[in-house]
Amino acid sequence: MKKDFLTLQDITKEEMWQVFDLAAKLKRERGKSSFKPLEGKSIGLIFAKSSTRTRVSFEVGVHELGGIPLYLDQGKMQLGRGSETVGDTAHVLSRYLHGIVIRTYGHAEVEELARTADIPVINALTNEYHPCQLLADLFTILEYSGKLDSTVKVGFFGDGRSNIANSMILAARLSGIDLVICSPEEERPGEALMAGAPNVRWERCPEKAAKGLNYIYTDVWVSMGFEDDKERRMQLFRPYQVNRKIFGLAAPDCKFLHCLPAHREEEVTADVLDSPASIVFDEAENRLHVQKALMAKLIGGC
Ligand code: CP
Ligand code: NVA
Repeated sequence: MKKDFLTLQDITKEEMWQVFDLAAKLKRERGKSSFKPLEGKSIGLIFAKSSTRTRVSFEVGVHELGGIPLYLDQGKMQLGRGSETVGDTAHVLSRYLHGIVIRTYGHAEVEELARTADIPVINALTNEYHPCQLLADLFTILEYSGKLDSTVKVGFFGDGRSNIANSMILAARLSGIDLVICSPEEERPGEALMAGAPNVRWERCPEKAAKGLNYIYTDVWVSMGFEDDKERRMQLFRPYQVNRKIFGLAAPDCKFLHCLPAHREEEVTADVLDSPASIVFDEAENRLHVQKALMAKLIGGC
């Protein structure tokens, strides 16, 4: 049975630890490893939105595992022209490829692709979820804290309904870390996502939310696909900026996280983003190692 990775609900806690063990090994042995589980396999990377980290880390990752990555601009595919259904595209690609990585707008499109394809599908970001990012972020937190449990306090500030916030809630549910989502009422996380998770809460007040945190995370105020709502969002999220004042309320060893790309002086000030407490480039690097481990398991049969 093929296995997809569309949200963090698609892996168990045990599988998460297996991915992290393999990712740590691949990180240690990068450039020296003869581990090639994707040898003879071709992986399609479909992108309908811009990307730097995701595209490069997946292309390099497939290559390092012995496979062939094929970058497919969704706008140049028959699918993107509105000339072919998701289902027909899935059937055709299943005859050529061994796995699909897709970044697009609506999550339902990725679900339909996964339902109709005979090969594993990995979500590389939709409007609703970004599971590869948060899996790498959990791995980064593990590297710094040495554990993933409720004693690790993480706070997310800003758009509480973004793909990053949604996936962070699922990441907290999966790993057991303590999470506060700090956002305005209008963009607070959906009830269903939070329900039954005692380690996840919502807080309106940034000063209250920041107290004692070990990690502060933020993301852009205007995600890809939400540009029409820019003016309202810039106003709404302004009080949720991560700056020296907010950072100063956190634990003394607090680290700063951001999926990137970052907008200095919008969701985060440069003095926080460029400070020694910022571990954003470790996060970016870990995308490579964690996604390699994930692909080795889902597509390489490891
Ligand atoms: N964090 C992230 O997914 O970056 P890209 O949009 O550059 O891929
Ligand atoms: N929330 C952002 C994440 C970018 C990696 C977006 O969707 O644009």
